[in-house]
Amino acid sequence: MSLLLKFAISILLVFLSNTIEIESVEQIYSLETRYIEVPVDHFSALPSPKYFKLRYLINSKYHVRGGPVFVYTGNDGDISIFAQNTGFMYDIAPVFNALLVFIEHRYYGQSLPFGNSTFSSPDNMQYLTSTQALADFAFVIEHLKKSFFENVISYDTHPFVAFGGSYGGMLAAWLRMKYPYSVIGAISSSAPMFYFPGMTSCELFYDKVTQVFEKYGHDQCVKTIKLGWDVIINLSKTKLGMDFISTTWKLCGKLKNSEDTEMLLNWLGNIYVNIALTNYHYPTDFYTPLPAYPVKVFCDKLTTSYFNDTKGLIEHFSHALEIYTNYTGKRVCNNINSSIDDYTEFAWDYQQCTELVMPKCSTDADMFITKPWDFEKYSMNCFKKFGVKTFEPDWAVIAYGGKNLRHYSNIVFSNGMMDPYSCGGVTGNMSASIWAFNISDAPHHIDLRNSDVADNNYVFSARAFHIQAIKQWLNMV
Ligand SMILES: *[C@@H]1O[C@H](CO)[C@@H](O)[C@H](O)[C@H]1NC(C)=O
Ligand SMILES: *[C@@H]1O[C@H](CO)[C@@H](O)[C@H](O)[C@H]1NC(C)=O
Ligand SMILES: *[C@@H]1O[C@H](CO)[C@@H](O)[C@H](O)[C@H]1NC(C)=O
Ligand SMILES: *[C@@H]1O[C@H](CO)[C@@H](O)[C@H](O)[C@H]1NC(C)=O
Ligand SMILES: *[C@@H]1O[C@H](CO)[C@@H](O)[C@H](O)[C@H]1NC(C)=O
Ligand SMILES: *[C@@H]1O[C@H](CO)[C@@H](O)[C@H](O)[C@H]1NC(C)=O
Ligand SMILES: *[C@@H]1O[C@H](CO)[C@@H](O)[C@H](O)[C@H]1NC(C)=O
Repeated sequence: MSLLLKFAISILLVFLSNTIEIESVEQIYSLETRYIEVPVDHFSALPSPKYFKLRYLINSKYHVRGGPVFVYTGNDGDISIFAQNTGFMYDIAPVFNALLVFIEHRYYGQSLPFGNSTFSSPDNMQYLTSTQALADFAFVIEHLKKSFFENVISYDTHPFVAFGGSYGGMLAAWLRMKYPYSVIGAISSSAPMFYFPGMTSCELFYDKVTQVFEKYGHDQCVKTIKLGWDVIINLSKTKLGMDFISTTWKLCGKLKNSEDTEMLLNWLGNIYVNIALTNYHYPTDFYTPLPAYPVKVFCDKLTTSYFNDTKGLIEHFSHALEIYTNYTGKRVCNNINSSIDDYTEFAWDYQQCTELVMPKCSTDADMFITKPWDFEKYSMNCFKKFGVKTFEPDWAVIAYGGKNLRHYSNIVFSNGMMDPYSCGGVTGNMSASIWAFNISDAPHHIDLRNSDVADNNYVFSARAFHIQAIKQWLNMV
């Protein structure tokens, strides 16, 4: 968008909002948007190699010449979302005089290798791999080293530190492991490094989600959630029942068959997972706007007086779910087909199908519908959806060393002990400089968020640990 047009629009917005000044995300976070041409395929020589524009965001507000560069290795989503939810980097930037850079992961946000046909064929999607993404990050970092510090003789004097949460945490760690000259160390928060086939039991994830609901919800919450599955399945046996659920839950399309019902059950399960992951102790806007302690708020809306009134139960669930689906009251209807028009989810599903296979299963012991891990079925669903096969379930282990992390250096792995993904996290020190930090009572990568008056001492200590590690890497102690 041209500056003039941007200006005209902002004037218009100011006018419309009746003198309330609207600041863009870029202004609030002092971010400058940049693009760099990177090869679509870093690993093959072609007669005429293709390039595409990869987006990255820069904040130089706290940067003092000579200071380090803190790089967020973007994960599965629009990079601006991570730039807005990684306040820790802004909080500590002044201490280090650091430049902040947030690099978008290819195939997400605006970094689409084939424009609007990026997701239209297996051919176009084949370059969506963590290996290519890591090469992008290394590529951008080399570019920054050259362009930002052109007068500096040794690039070493401007150390780069990688930061990331969740899959972004894996990428931060992997960047340090695969391109150690590129970053001097990595802060890897809530990264399920060990959540690959054969490394972690598949039931632990849903067990942990259930524990979160048991701990933060009332006694009957898990029981009610468990009952919910049967009620939905029973109601879905008739057209009348399906219509009732569709209307009560304000679904965008009516449930028509058992496939739709299965989709609904998956959608519901994902909501429970996401509420548990983002069970922060203050209101947030990460996947979606949420109140403080969303698990508690959700559970408080589910009373137990409806155990013999299935329709009443469905209505109650509808109110409870609005905590997640409609906290702002602006959602017209619930699209349970989300990955059909949500390319972020589509791309992430593709990655989980092709290289990042993370086996999850549920048992009678948790609050989800019992579902064993069935690799054949998983692989077949992937084929149906993407036209590609899960080529090698163990690839992530081969590519990134599995549990053999003792050969590496300078990584902090932090995990919230009430984060479902912590079951696949690195929770023990692995070498003299591969450190683990457990954060009691904490959800998914809370330590990377900005500091908040409601933060407890556990989160505070985790951040202090990170700062200490970075100082050590930068020879500041
Ligand atoms: C895709 O993008 C091209 C060029 O930017 C445009 O001409 C075309 O109409 C777009 N197609 C769709 C389906 O949006
Ligand atoms: C579901 O239907 C079965 C068979 O009709 C019945 O036994 C069961 O109690 C029902 N469960 C719920 C939760 O309504
Ligand atoms: C899901 O998407 C398909 C294809 O767009 C559509 O036919 C179906 O009605 C949708 N189902 C629901 C329940 O929204
Ligand atoms: C549910 O069952 C209880 C007794 O077990 C009864 O008092 C109550 O009226 C019933 N509620 C409905 C809605 O049927
Ligand atoms: C969201 O909330 C608004 C306001 O209460 C309501 O009108 C709308 O139907 C709700 N939408 C969904 C999908 O729940
Ligand atoms: C973190 O917690 C796990 C168990 O949940 C424990 O085995 C491990 O020793 C703890 N690690 C540290 C660094 O305290
Ligand atoms: C892990 O290493 C850190 C940093 O040296 C140390 O402070 C911590 O005590 C170690 N934890 C365990 C459980 O050994």
